[in-house]
Amino acid sequence: MTKRSITELLSQMTIDEKIAQLIQVTPDFLTDTEANLTGPLAALGLSEDIIHNIGSVLSAVGAKETKAIQEQHLKRNRLGIPLLLMADIIHGYRTIFPVSLGLASSWDMNLAERTAEAAAKESAVTGLHVTFAPMVDLVRDPRWGRVVESTGEDPYLNGEYARAFVRGFQGEDLSADTDRIAACVKHLAAYGAAEGGRDYNTVNMSERQLRESYLPAYKEAVDAGSELVMTAFNTVDGVPATGNRWLMRKVLREEWGFGGVLISDWGAVQEMIAHGAAADGAEAARKAIEAGVDIEMMTPLYVLDLKRLVEEGKVDEALIDESVLRVLRLKEKLGLFDNPYRGADEEREEEVILSGEHRAVAREAAVKSAVLLKNEGVLPLRSGQKTALIGPFAQSGDILGPWSLWGKREEAAQLYNGMLTKTESSLLRVAKGCDVESGSEEQLEEALQAAREADIIVLALGESSEMSGEAGSRGDIRLPKAQLDLIARLKPLGKPMAAVLFNGRPLDLHGVIDEVDAVLVAWFPGTEGGNAIADLLYGDSAPSGRLTMSFPYAVGQIPVYYNHYNTGRPLTPENADQRYVSKYLDMPNDPLLPFGFGLGYTTFTYAKAALSAETIRPGETLTVTVDVTNTGETAGEEVVQLYVRDVAGEVVRPVKELKAFRKIKLAPGETVSVAFELGEEQLRYYHSDLSYESDEGEFQLFVGANSRDAEALSFQLVK
Ligand code: GLC
Repeated sequence: MTKRSITELLSQMTIDEKIAQLIQVTPDFLTDTEANLTGPLAALGLSEDIIHNIGSVLSAVGAKETKAIQEQHLKRNRLGIPLLLMADIIHGYRTIFPVSLGLASSWDMNLAERTAEAAAKESAVTGLHVTFAPMVDLVRDPRWGRVVESTGEDPYLNGEYARAFVRGFQGEDLSADTDRIAACVKHLAAYGAAEGGRDYNTVNMSERQLRESYLPAYKEAVDAGSELVMTAFNTVDGVPATGNRWLMRKVLREEWGFGGVLISDWGAVQEMIAHGAAADGAEAARKAIEAGVDIEMMTPLYVLDLKRLVEEGKVDEALIDESVLRVLRLKEKLGLFDNPYRGADEEREEEVILSGEHRAVAREAAVKSAVLLKNEGVLPLRSGQKTALIGPFAQSGDILGPWSLWGKREEAAQLYNGMLTKTESSLLRVAKGCDVESGSEEQLEEALQAAREADIIVLALGESSEMSGEAGSRGDIRLPKAQLDLIARLKPLGKPMAAVLFNGRPLDLHGVIDEVDAVLVAWFPGTEGGNAIADLLYGDSAPSGRLTMSFPYAVGQIPVYYNHYNTGRPLTPENADQRYVSKYLDMPNDPLLPFGFGLGYTTFTYAKAALSAETIRPGETLTVTVDVTNTGETAGEEVVQLYVRDVAGEVVRPVKELKAFRKIKLAPGETVSVAFELGEEQLRYYHSDLSYESDEGEFQLFVGANSRDAEALSFQLVK
């Protein structure tokens, strides 16, 4: 259908049909309308003819189901306008990949793109058109449950992942490639900055901070062509994002040139009332449509109030037309007017879903996502060792993590089964030891018995999927007490212990890291998790993950992140014994483990880095070269990281900012020369007047293995 005909279609629509095109409900509202007429439909104030005209549905999946829903809808819709079908495919549809915070630890954009591509393929064949991903909220507070869906604390890295995920979901040509789905970057904006790390809480920050740290990744996703954007639940400078015209009209649409569909988060239009930013549904609906929110998810205010507001002259119908056109244009781009069933195909569904190829990507991703935090000579496990695998995640399918709605825990490779493919069953005892959050004496006794007979203990510990994710904020981010008690009871046996953690956030590792000899963070590794962690435990693969979020020393430090400002009284080794410096009386300032940190099974050394010049001007390139050597006995991967510091800015500047990285693989003894190029444009920042430019002066540059262990060099920018 040509664009003209989209406009023509709009001209044929009644205002009721136009408004109904802008609401989104779950499929139950369509399937048994009769039942819903008295139930949720009535509760939502939606009549049957509204339902016949709605524009989109969320969380309908399965080729057979989605085709039936579409077919029924087309029979009832006067103008034959097909539905958009959307769902949360964050890290996989049925083949589940590591949660985003895990995948991000791979520092591998190609891998991230491939996981999104596989997820798109499985989603498209079940009839989905849009995924509510990537989630690119910057997060500096691991108490916040949705940190698990993020890629961490760095604006640059988050932006790289945003691009990779959008490329993977959408491919090159969404119109032609029905194995791809439209991306919906979320949640605009700064949802990860909720005060206290408490979900849905207030966000308060300056526009400069918002632009410097929190907005870049959303913009990267928009620049990469994300077809949709989703609003955040929170306020931005006192105005709920979902009714925030400055954010959605000025920034998103005017500054960034976004012409796609803006969808509210679930109920977020109506929540403006609870926020205290709207007196009633009509005001909330008006503020949302004026902010350019095209689709209202799961609340009916557009349907209940917009027509009257137009009739009263309080809302310009042109705003509604604009939104309807964007929705129709997305349907046209997806080819739905020509083929409303797009990629849905029951036969192909069987071969595509959980294919060997997708499982292989899932296993690779889980291997590359794991981060080795400590290893004092116990990993990899040696063949012939009698091993006791102990912990609530030893034989658990709860390793898919949050937002794995259509993954099946029974299809997940459990750690015990993964390890059985590596060693004789007679050499591998397994005991639960405790449940995730509780335990019994007999569980403990069984574990102690297994441990007594073993040469080494592998602990499988962590959080359940419900302990992170949406509404999964925790004020205490240690492992549950039952698991800390298990460690404490095993410790006196004096056996070497390696802990594998299945977690959705950086944890406070008190009671863990000092008690064991090795810690391997598996995150929620997904469908192939047990096989991948077994690959790492037995040395068939080597850990190569690096943290994209600081692990705090304790929750009292939060927010703790690497790219912080220096303050006027920075703590230094020289003044550590002084009182009047920026420090705690009872704990260090530094996180337990810094951004960029991770170990492997080999070691690397960095020679002194060399700069191609001491001074650069705009338009010139500074080349930083460093020789990295694998000084260990086995091959390994290293993520060489480049950070910059603007020593004196017009406003204060972070002590470090990641500007580039390179993941390299080296054979034992091999040396490689890694070169980075830096230009003036990478030194720009938001000034107090929000101009975005660089300043002349001294800069420091850091090259190394993480944000803490990196050599400092200096150079000047002159103009
Ligand atoms: C949820 C989440 C959002 C998700 C949407 C649809 O509340 O905040 O990330 O995409 O609703 O499930």
